[in-house]
Amino acid sequence: MKTQVAIIGAGPAGLFLAHLLKRQGIESVVLELRSREYAEGRVRAGVLEAGTIDTLNNLGLGERMMREGLVDNGLDMRFNGRTIHLDLPGLTGRSVRIYGQQEVVRDLIGARVNEGDPLIFEAEVVRIEGIETSAPRVHYKQGGEMKVLECAFVAGCDGFHGVSRASMPEGVITTYTRAYNFAWLGVLAKAAPMSDMTYVNHDNGFALCSRRSASISRLYLQVPPSDRPENWTDARIWDELHTRMFDDGRTEIQEGEIFQRDIAQLRAFIASPMQHGNLFLAGDAVHIVPPTGAKGLNMAVADARILARSMAAYFSSNSRAELDRYSAECMARVWKTIRFSAYMTGLLHRFDEHSPFDRGMQLTELDFISQSEAAQRAIAEQYVKLSDVAD
Ligand code: APR
Ligand code: PHB
Repeated sequence: MKTQVAIIGAGPAGLFLAHLLKRQGIESVVLELRSREYAEGRVRAGVLEAGTIDTLNNLGLGERMMREGLVDNGLDMRFNGRTIHLDLPGLTGRSVRIYGQQEVVRDLIGARVNEGDPLIFEAEVVRIEGIETSAPRVHYKQGGEMKVLECAFVAGCDGFHGVSRASMPEGVITTYTRAYNFAWLGVLAKAAPMSDMTYVNHDNGFALCSRRSASISRLYLQVPPSDRPENWTDARIWDELHTRMFDDGRTEIQEGEIFQRDIAQLRAFIASPMQHGNLFLAGDAVHIVPPTGAKGLNMAVADARILARSMAAYFSSNSRAELDRYSAECMARVWKTIRFSAYMTGLLHRFDEHSPFDRGMQLTELDFISQSEAAQRAIAEQYVKLSDVAD
C-alpha cells in the first residue's frame, strides 16, 4: 500500500491531521493499534480552547460539539474556604467549551469512515524504516500478518508509549521530564454538576469539579501515585469531594451514581526536536502535560494544524522550507503550555515535599490572585487561548 502521509495513531493528533490534510487535497492512511470501540470509549479531559473549537468547525465537523458541548464562561479556584471567580469572557473576550475528548474522537472517526478514507484499526506499527530517505516504509501487523505502507512522510501521532519517538536515531532527541508524586482519581457520575469549573487547593489535596453535560459530572481527586480505583468507595469519593470543596452543608455538590473511575499519573515531558528526516511527531508522542488546565488535547490539535499547513506548503511548492521549521515553530508554544500546566499543578496541589514555608507561599499566591485582576487575566488568557496558532 502507498500513500502521501502515513499517520500512526487515531487519537486527536492523528485524526485532526488526517482531516486537515484531506481538506488540502493530501492523502493519508491512519494506522491505529486499538479497536474502534476502544478508541472511541477512552475517557479523557474535555475542555476545548477557542482555537480547537474553530478547527473542528472549519473542518465542518463541529455540529454536535456546538449542539451538545457546554459553553464555560467561568473558572473558579478555591482555597481556605474562599473562591476566586475568573470571568473568562470578561477577562479575555473568549470562553472555552466543555465537550469530552472521546466525543471529539468519535466525531472525527465517524467522519473519516463516512468519507470512505483509510483508517485501519487493530493495526500495530512495529517498525518505521528509511526516515532519512524520500520513501519511508511503515511496517505494521494486522490480523497476524505483517504489512508495509509506503509514504513520503510519516506522522508519529501514537502517544507517549508509541513506536515513533523511539524510531528517532540515537542522539537526535533531548528529553525534559518532571514527575509528580501524585495521581488523579477521575470519575463520571450521573449528577447535576456545579455551574462553573471549580478547582480547589485543600489541606487534604487538590480536587476538581467539571462536567460533561447538564446531568453528568466529571470529578477529580488528588490521590497517592500507588492508589487504586477500588480503594475508593462511592461514599468515600463524595465525602472527600464535599470536604475538599468546602461544601460545608454538603448541598453544593450533587451526588449520583458513579459509573466510571480511573487513576492517571501526573507528569510533564517534552522531547525536542519534533522531527527528523521525514518523520514528524505530534501530540502525546512528543510532549505530555500534567492535566491541570486540560491542555493535552488542545496542544495536540495545534501541532496537527501546523504540521498540516507545513505539509501542504511542501506538496504545493516542493520546497521544504516550512516543513523544516515545523518543530521550531511548535516548541515555544509547547514550552509555554507545559509551563502553564505545571504552574496550575504547583498552585493547586499538595506536595509531600512542601515545607510550611512552601505551603505559605502557595496560599499567598492564591490570595494575591484573588486581589489582582492582572493576575486573573494572565491565568484566564492562558486557559482560553494558549494553543492559538496561525493556519
Ligand atoms: N501502532 C498504531 N497505533 C498506535 C501505536 C502503534 N504502535 N501505539 C500507540 N498507538 C495509538 C494509540 O492506541 C492511540 O489511539 O496511538 C494513539 C495515540 O492517541 P493519544 O494517546 O490520544 O494521543 P494524541 O492523539 O497525541 O492526543 C493527545 O490525548 O492522551 C491524551 O491527554 C492526552 O489529551 C491529550 C491527547
Ligand atoms: C475535565 O473536564 O476532564 C477537565 C477539566 C479541567 C481540567 C482537567 C480536566 O483542568
